[in-house]
Amino acid sequence: MALPTVNPTQTQAWKKLQDHFNKVENLHMKDLFAQDANRADKFTIKWQDFYVDVSKNRITEETFKYLLELADDVKLKEAIQSQFSGEKINKTEGRAVLHTALRALKTAVVNVDGVNVIPEVYSVREKIEAFTNKVVSGSKKGYTGKAFTHVVNIGIGGSDLGPAMVVDSLQYYKNHLTTYFVSNVDGDHVNEVIKKLNPETTLFVVVSKTFTTQETLSNANTIKEWFLQSASQDDIAKHFVAVSTNLEAVKNFGIASENIFPMWDWVGGRFSLWSAVGLSISLAVGYNNYASLLEGAHEMDEHFKNEDFASNIPVVLGLISIWYNNFFKAESEAVIAYSQYLNQFATYLQQGIMESNGKSVDRNGNFIDYQTGTLIWGEPGTNSQHAFFQLIHQGTKLIPADFIGFAKSLHGNQDHQDKLISNFLAQTEALLNGKTKEQVEDEGTSETILPFKIFEGNKPTNTIFVEKLTPKSLGKLIAMYEHKIFVQGIIWNIFSYDQFGVELGKQLATKILHEFNNLVTNNHDSSTVNLLTYYKNMK
Ligand code: F6P
Repeated sequence: MALPTVNPTQTQAWKKLQDHFNKVENLHMKDLFAQDANRADKFTIKWQDFYVDVSKNRITEETFKYLLELADDVKLKEAIQSQFSGEKINKTEGRAVLHTALRALKTAVVNVDGVNVIPEVYSVREKIEAFTNKVVSGSKKGYTGKAFTHVVNIGIGGSDLGPAMVVDSLQYYKNHLTTYFVSNVDGDHVNEVIKKLNPETTLFVVVSKTFTTQETLSNANTIKEWFLQSASQDDIAKHFVAVSTNLEAVKNFGIASENIFPMWDWVGGRFSLWSAVGLSISLAVGYNNYASLLEGAHEMDEHFKNEDFASNIPVVLGLISIWYNNFFKAESEAVIAYSQYLNQFATYLQQGIMESNGKSVDRNGNFIDYQTGTLIWGEPGTNSQHAFFQLIHQGTKLIPADFIGFAKSLHGNQDHQDKLISNFLAQTEALLNGKTKEQVEDEGTSETILPFKIFEGNKPTNTIFVEKLTPKSLGKLIAMYEHKIFVQGIIWNIFSYDQFGVELGKQLATKILHEFNNLVTNNHDSSTVNLLTYYKNMK
């Protein structure tokens, strides 16, 4: 069964939401809390170690009811079923979308073209486990007989952002291996990393689903050349491994076939950290922690697949986001994690969310006349409070925000933790209530300064409070956002799993590169001609 192709704006629920919006647009959340002592409880989902409070949103019970009706009207339940069962829901590329199969139980059966993919998934996981154990224990040696001390992941986009974010987020659980990530084609990136490496003790993991990506191949070649300055061609087999679907291209690069960790075309790049793309995660934190990450994601998968929509975390978050994006016309969403460990989390989500849902053609092939993909941005709290929070509190734009916090700190410094969490709670309270004219007056503020100190409040937030940052809870958190992306893509009636938009720039860059070498002259607009000439004269 193909994905449903319902135009959301033509559904009964959308019409109800539009009428309802006109009535509730100006309601203040403060009043909603005052009117209903049980509001927080009504809009809180408690699941395992997750406490998700969505009560600080500009929604009423009626809003929630219509949003749930919208999920039904666009046939979300059927769509979820289609995804999990391995149907080719990535229609524009003719592929299934099965990152969920990568973290499924060994006993699961998920068929693609009539073949159960789970045995293959587990055979690659076993390979990852065995390889990780050899590297971490030091039994696998480099070309001079020394154990590895450094791992370098060479990849970009989904072949970089997921592993880089997870390794950074789980640094508390890290082993002795130092892990670097090289992604940008900017040669200064790779050279800065090379400066810190000893070829004798460094393992290189080249990650590219297609193994055609310019950045990754350039970086891998530069590193290989540097490596060969001290080692021989035969030593490559000891120091280079690859993760890819393109086994032929990997072999042509010079990597031995036993050093290839395969992946499959039904794993999208931005959802691939659960596949062998996560090899550097496994190397950095050990296989057991890597397996826990996948287990957490699997538990979120089960929750998403089976839970009623009213208490289904990804569904509820997705619906609330639609409410702001399509009715309040909010352009962006902030993700503020009150954990320095999640420093790269918003950056990681940017690819997942914006590459997936930055689309303007619906599943019927028609241009759409409603808003899709939200802009995602954020930085950890409390740092962000001293950076851009002013705009969220008192600016003219409506910026719904997810606040993510962990109740227990990893290093157990309670004084810092109390201060961190007091900020975490205070900010959503301040965004909700704001500060009235009367309150400012009571502070003895002069008439002239008064208007500047008033906060309107009524700024929406979701609080995602998790017991503790562990590999497992991180797996749940990432999977939660993956499913939120799916929910929104289904509602917007778009295909979330292709990324044709990134192709044009890549093609033009290749053409321009040939021009630098005077191989061809292309037609360009006058601005590009001037810039090209400027560069050629300068370089
Ligand atoms: O940015 C476009 C993209 O295709 C991403 O979707 C993907 O994660 C990235 O490039 C890297 O691709 P590959 O793993 O094939 O090198």
